[in-house]
Amino acid sequence: MKVTIFGTGYVGLVTGACLAEMGNHVVCVDIDEAKVEGLKKGVIPIYEPGLEPIVKRNHAAGQLDFTTDPASAIAHGELIFIAVGTPPDEDGSADLKYVLAVARTIGQHLDRYAVVVNKSTVPVGTADKVRDAITEVLKGRDAGIEFDVVSNPEFLKEGDAVEDCLRPDRIVVGSSSERAVGRLRKLYAPFNRNHDRMVVMDERSAELTKYAANAMLATKISFMNEIANIAERVGADVELVRQGIGSDPRIGYHFIYPGAGYGGSCFPKDVQALERIARAHDYDARLLAMVEAVNHTQKTRLFAQIQRHFNGNIAGKTIALWGLAFKPNTDDMREAPSRRLIEALWDAGAKVRAYDPEAREETQRIYGERADLVLCEKPYEALDGADVLALVTEWKAFRSPDFGRIKAALKEPAIFDGRNLYDPQVVEDAGLAYYGIGRGRSL
Ligand code: UGA
Repeated sequence: MKVTIFGTGYVGLVTGACLAEMGNHVVCVDIDEAKVEGLKKGVIPIYEPGLEPIVKRNHAAGQLDFTTDPASAIAHGELIFIAVGTPPDEDGSADLKYVLAVARTIGQHLDRYAVVVNKSTVPVGTADKVRDAITEVLKGRDAGIEFDVVSNPEFLKEGDAVEDCLRPDRIVVGSSSERAVGRLRKLYAPFNRNHDRMVVMDERSAELTKYAANAMLATKISFMNEIANIAERVGADVELVRQGIGSDPRIGYHFIYPGAGYGGSCFPKDVQALERIARAHDYDARLLAMVEAVNHTQKTRLFAQIQRHFNGNIAGKTIALWGLAFKPNTDDMREAPSRRLIEALWDAGAKVRAYDPEAREETQRIYGERADLVLCEKPYEALDGADVLALVTEWKAFRSPDFGRIKAALKEPAIFDGRNLYDPQVVEDAGLAYYGIGRGRSL
C-alpha cells in the first residue's frame, strides 16, 4: 500500500521502515532538512538495534523515501500517519501543536479520500480535534473531500522497537469507519499471519488504551520499588520476593524489577499526562500521582546510599558510574535516573567518571565539557582514581565483571547496584561492600 508518515522521530522512522519492509511504499516527511538528507544517505539519527539495515535496504530498493515536501507526500499516501512529538507543556499535559499543524497541512493538500492515522501518544479526544482541524482547512478550500481519522497507538519499546513493530502482540485500531478499518486490516495483514492481533474499538478507547498500558507498567515498577523499600527495612530480599510473586501468572515476571526508578520519554510523560487528563475531567487520579511520587523518590535512592556510606562527606570523592542511558540498548538520556544521581553528586561536591556503551555523546551534549565529569571509553577506565562504583543501567557488558579488578581499582571498594544485577554474596566474597535495592542488608 502507499503510506505517508509525518515525523521521522523514533516512532515515525521505525514504523516507516517496518511498513516498507513488509512491501509497502512509504514516504516519510520531516521539516528538518538535514535529517532528511542524512536519512537518504543512510544516517540514522537515533540508536536503535536493527533499524539501520532495514532503512538502508528499503531506501535502496525504492520502498522507503524521505522528503521535506508535504504536498507530494500527501499526494502519495492512501494512509497518512501522524507520528510527530507530543512534548509535555508547562503543566504536564501533552502539547498538541505539532499534531494539529500536521492535520492542517493535510487539510491544505488532500485531494482524495485518505485515512489519517494517529500514532502519536495523544490525550483522549484528539482524534476529534484532528478531524476538526482537517475539516476546517478543507472547508476554507471549499473542497468536499472525504477522509477518516483513526487512532492507532504504538507500543514500541526503545531498544526492541524493530522487533516490536515487526512482531506486535496487539494492534489497537480506534475507528468507527468500516472503510478506514478495512484499509488498516489490509495494511496490517502481514503482521497478523498466525492469529488476528487487531483489536478494533472506538477512537477514545484506543487513545486511553495507550495511556493505560504505560500507566499500568509504571505502576508495577513503582509498586515493586515500594516493596523493595519495605524489604530493606524489614531485612528481606526483594529479589526473592520478586521470584516468589512473579510465579503467579496473574502477576507475572515482567516489569517487576525494582531499581533506580523508571525513566525514558514515555512512562514519566504518560503517567503525568493521564493524571492531567483525569483532572481535566474532574477526577483526581490519586494512584497515578503516587506512582509518580514513588518514582521521583526512587531516583534519589542511589545517592542517599552513597551519601550514607560516606557519612555525608561526599565532597572531593570520585564516583564511577556504569551506565548512563535510561535503560540498556539505547542512547536515550531522557528522564534517566543517572542524571538525577550525577546532578546530586555534583551538588554535594563529588566528581563523576562514567562509562556507557552508547550514551556518552548524548551525555556530553547535555552537560558539555566539565571538570567534574569524565566520560570514559572503556568500563574499567571509569574506575581509575574512583572511590566507589555505582551501576545505574543494566547493560549486558556489566553482567559478569571481574570483581577482583574492580576491588583493585577502587579506593574504597564498594558497589552501589542500582539494578540488583549482582549476587551480594559474590561481591562481598570478592572483598567489596555491596549495596543493592531492597536487599535487606543494604540499609
Ligand atoms: C515503554 C513501554 O514499555 C512501551 O510498551 C511503550 O510503547 C513505550 O514506553 C512508549 O510509550 O513509546 P520504553 O520507554 O522504551 O517503552 O522503555 P521500557 O523498556 O518500558 O522501560 C521504561 C523504564 O522502566 C526504564 O527506565 C526501565 O529501566 C524501567 N523498568 C522497567 C524498571 O525499573 N523495572 C522493570 O521491571 C521494567
